[in-house]
Amino acid sequence: MVETIIEDVYARKIYDSRGGPTIEVEVVTVDGFGRASAPAGASTGTHEVVPFPKGGIDEALRLVNEVVAEKLIGMDSTDQVAVDDLLHEIDGTDNFSRLGGAAALAISVAVAKAAASSLGLPLFQYVGGVFATEMPFPLGNVVGGGRHAGERAPNVQEFLIIPVGAKSYEEAVELCIKVHREVGKMISKLDKSFAGGKGDEGAWAANISDEEAFQVLSEACHSTSHEVGRKIVLGADFAASSMWVPEEGSYYLRREGRKRTREEQINYVIEAAERYDLRYIEDPLHEEDFEGYSLLTKAIGHRVLVCGDDLFTTNAARIKKGLELRAANAIIIKPNQVGTLTDAYRALRVARAGGLMPVMSHRSGETEDAFISHLAVGLRCPLIKAGVMGGERIAKHNELIRIEEMLENVKCMAELPPQLTR
Ligand code: PGA
Ligand code: ZN
Repeated sequence: MVETIIEDVYARKIYDSRGGPTIEVEVVTVDGFGRASAPAGASTGTHEVVPFPKGGIDEALRLVNEVVAEKLIGMDSTDQVAVDDLLHEIDGTDNFSRLGGAAALAISVAVAKAAASSLGLPLFQYVGGVFATEMPFPLGNVVGGGRHAGERAPNVQEFLIIPVGAKSYEEAVELCIKVHREVGKMISKLDKSFAGGKGDEGAWAANISDEEAFQVLSEACHSTSHEVGRKIVLGADFAASSMWVPEEGSYYLRREGRKRTREEQINYVIEAAERYDLRYIEDPLHEEDFEGYSLLTKAIGHRVLVCGDDLFTTNAARIKKGLELRAANAIIIKPNQVGTLTDAYRALRVARAGGLMPVMSHRSGETEDAFISHLAVGLRCPLIKAGVMGGERIAKHNELIRIEEMLENVKCMAELPPQLTR
């Protein structure tokens, strides 16, 4: 018997970091085992696949254990594309609304892990082969707002840092933690009511404005950079779809209770990028405004990575549209936005061919599963967005530290684009 043949598939309900129920799948092969679980978003894009079927998670579990398992048993776990195609066939819709994207992703990743384990390889090497030796840089979330934190928190969802001067992944993580700590101390001085609270991704959740958050982050990055002699740059995820009110055609600033027009939002983003020397901006405009993205990318794309998350939802068709319009120069890859590893890989291929720099990313609701760490190395993404603090975030960093150790003498840090290194 071939050691990679699937012998058993089992799904159970577990919980994510927000306490939301999610699916974990186990795949047993003759000679291996894989376990994977699906994360969940809070500021989800409209064009993502549907996470659960109509009957909810129980219906998804029933479908996996009673329908899908039987069809997968006997298949070769190394036939990833065939497995993922079969999931689409069983589902029969174009957005996984019958099986649910959470079940599809957990199966897809568990199959890949089982195949890797059967062959005695770590997942990143199974996925990426012998030249998968580049360590990504972490894109760390330090201050949270928007849908990831309470009402008095900033409007911008994530205030981010990239330790571009780090010489190893381990050092990069240490730098992220150092800045996170420093920012915590600074916020305590600024917001007297601050009691050390954190948002969904372990970023500080405080009663401060967007400007205050940018200032604090900028100061902490400069002082830490100076102290350790390693460059750290700033970024932000505006998650603008969460602020967009389509009926009014404007962006709503919850904290101030006021609105911004599209033009004001574009100008605000350009000015913020200039003032705080932002090198990375994600979802600066709402998810249907491809033209607005084009304007922004034309204006600041040579100095700043303009990254589409909700804009693209890891969806090849939307990426193609974005490329035609030159809407962005970077893309968030969230495998659960599209449902399977094969779909995520196909999206990545299209993105790369069009010159978009890929960022492998977590979701705000995560489990301890660290498969994105392996995918970042295996699929050669120069950045990984996985938060800074919190067990489920640290799990991703710790796994990358292990990978870095495994690669010992052959590893190097990823090549970064000029927007980050200038
Ligand atoms: P989500 O947010 O996982 O809540 O969708 C993450 C992001 O917008 O990058
Ligand atoms: Zn985002």
